[in-house]
Amino acid sequence: MSQPLSLEGVLFDPPREGRVSLTAAQGEVPAALRGSYYLNGPARLQRGDFRYRHWLDGDGFVRAVHFRDGAAELVSRFVRTTKFNEEKEADAPIYRTFGTSFADDRLRKGRLLESPANVSVFPFGGKLLAFGEQALPWELHPESLETIGEFDFKGALGQTAPFSAHPKIDEDAGRLCNFGLDYLFRSTVLRYWEFDQDFNQVLSRKFECPRPSSIHDFALSADYAAFYVSPYDLGILSFLRKGRSIQECLSWHEGEDNVLLLLPRDETSEAVSINLGARGFCLHLFGAFQDGPDLMVDLIETTEPLYVQYEPLPELFSTVRSGSIVRFTVNPAEGKVRQVESYPYPELHLDFPVSSPCARAAGTQDIWMLALPVEPRGRTKYFDRLQRFDWARGAVVDEYFPPSGTYLGGEAALAEGAAGERDWLICPVWEAEERSTAILIFAAYDLAAGPIANVPTTVESPLGFHASYDLASSFT
Ligand SMILES: [Fe+2]
Repeated sequence: MSQPLSLEGVLFDPPREGRVSLTAAQGEVPAALRGSYYLNGPARLQRGDFRYRHWLDGDGFVRAVHFRDGAAELVSRFVRTTKFNEEKEADAPIYRTFGTSFADDRLRKGRLLESPANVSVFPFGGKLLAFGEQALPWELHPESLETIGEFDFKGALGQTAPFSAHPKIDEDAGRLCNFGLDYLFRSTVLRYWEFDQDFNQVLSRKFECPRPSSIHDFALSADYAAFYVSPYDLGILSFLRKGRSIQECLSWHEGEDNVLLLLPRDETSEAVSINLGARGFCLHLFGAFQDGPDLMVDLIETTEPLYVQYEPLPELFSTVRSGSIVRFTVNPAEGKVRQVESYPYPELHLDFPVSSPCARAAGTQDIWMLALPVEPRGRTKYFDRLQRFDWARGAVVDEYFPPSGTYLGGEAALAEGAAGERDWLICPVWEAEERSTAILIFAAYDLAAGPIANVPTTVESPLGFHASYDLASSFT
């Protein structure tokens, strides 16, 4: 029987920053693979003797793997946020976090979390931006990852503007699109923005959200921003007046209805609200696309919220429930659901979906994602398989299992080659006993063959959240 998995070291030990050239231990880095794989995630979950209790509490630690001409280089660096700098100076926690509150903890302007910028990282318009949950992003140098500063889109966003960690890049229109939730005492406002490649604001709208729901992600089609609204509410009064963490202020109302909220991407049209009945929770969506009068919205649905599975550290996913891949086909003009396609995976927790931007315009056909078994309950688990789901067949058609004791260490990213070249999938793996991390390069449509290159990093890299790939960069 295998040893129980322990995340104690990888979560609480401070990670190593720096820059190192990498050499493949197996296979070769394809000469035609160019660009940069970026990964963000929470790290340094201990400050002095103080331990945080929730995975979302760590400071943003960004990794870049720059590929060029068969060579690879790893750069690892904390985001120097206000929170990071002040707490480092004090060698003590100062700010309340998503899952941890303490005596005399502080908020930004008394209203929201001081962002650790620890969830995602996206290249756009020649800049690299690190995002936290519902806060302004931080700009990093795309090669060195040095922190340049907080980024307010030429002053369009104020210091307390909510801004999600899941912006969407509309490549056809050359826009970065994002949302944020303003939780007020009597209502919840869903704000929506679009910015062009020069970071000029080109659209800014406000809509009433049907409930004070926690919404982490959305999906973007040519005409709509689509939101899956769950009965998972934030009690803003408890957060602001009782000193509680975000996690402590969230409540799940099982059996209440879900709503698909469609915001039009124009200046004047009304939002469309479509009742889905009582369904569940969604953390991440794959995408949305239009087919004549219909809109399709693809996502991962679970029976209950996920954030409680991120605590108490070092436990993760100990009682996680299984998930389903779901496509809602709706008619926005009629405000009705036309069809629900659901593909349940009763033995697996699914997350960190990646879809091909090239396929989005025509409808997403392939999804890459990480998965882990929901059994045995009561035990810490981590992602132990990489899968490709094919919508045309409605099934997982390709799968990679790393060796026993090795786990997928963060979201994968597609590096899409030029016409006629292969598409690659980049994904880190974490070897739990050796406490080391490697970068794997796969042929994206042949995961089962195993990686075409295994590139050790010589360090243990913190477990990551979201990744992206910048085909345009070439730094090494
Ligand atoms: Fe996310």
